[in-house]
Amino acid sequence: MEPGQHAAGYTQLARVLHWLTAALVLVMLPLGLVIANEAGGRLQGVLYNAHKSIGALILLLVVVRLAYRLTHRPPPLPDDIPPLQRLAAEATHWALYALLILQPLLGWAGTSAYPAPVPFFGLFDLPPLVTADRALSDQLLHWHRMTGLALAGLASLHVAAALYHHFVRRDRVLLRMLTG
Ligand code: HEM
Ligand code: HEM
Repeated sequence: MEPGQHAAGYTQLARVLHWLTAALVLVMLPLGLVIANEAGGRLQGVLYNAHKSIGALILLLVVVRLAYRLTHRPPPLPDDIPPLQRLAAEATHWALYALLILQPLLGWAGTSAYPAPVPFFGLFDLPPLVTADRALSDQLLHWHRMTGLALAGLASLHVAAALYHHFVRRDRVLLRMLTG
């Protein structure tokens, strides 16, 4: 970092992108479970479209976010965090980014192979990623489910770590993502 530059927290853009993705992902996990278990009743069709549209939006947001992240270094962690915890944080964050890209791509590809349309908020349909193949669709949606489970697990670990920082270590790690 340049001398005199003060990186106490995440920039406003980094924070907006983080909380927007977090909120959307937290909506998408239960929404996915509802549609996969046909628990949507008369709303099933609407919920499918919402799941696909929000999923595509997440993909777009995460591409922007990754581009931003690769060109802007996040603020360093407090000095007294042990190396293993730094490594765990780093690994979790990159795994989350990877899953955030993989998850919507698998959903999109699996839906294309089904074949079913991938609407984007009623504005237009996204082009199919693969040609129609029901067996392939089953496989891709199976992996969509597995990455969904992995995402839910990692996100829980991530939230637990954030709460640990705030309430046990009482450092600024959660605050710098909230207020900068
Ligand atoms: C980050 C974004 C996404 C998340 C977190 C997510 C999460 C989930 C989850 C947890 C399920 C339930 C899986 C199961 O229990 O079988 C699911 C199902 C599903 N998702 Fe997604 N999804 C995302 C994006 C997408 C996108 C972009 C599409 C399509 C364009 C899509 C299409 C589907 C479909 C068709 C199902 C139902 C699969 C079935 O009936 O077995 N998802 N999603
Ligand atoms: C499913 C939802 C979530 C996803 C996908 C997610 C993803 C991420 C990612 C990828 C980073 C790394 C940012 C970087 O590149 O430096 C990050 C940072 C962070 N997240 Fe989340 N997050 C989610 C939910 C939450 C929630 C609910 C909390 C709080 C309870 C939280 C607290 C934080 C904090 C404090 C950081 C900054 C860590 C640091 O300063 O090193 N996240 N998140």
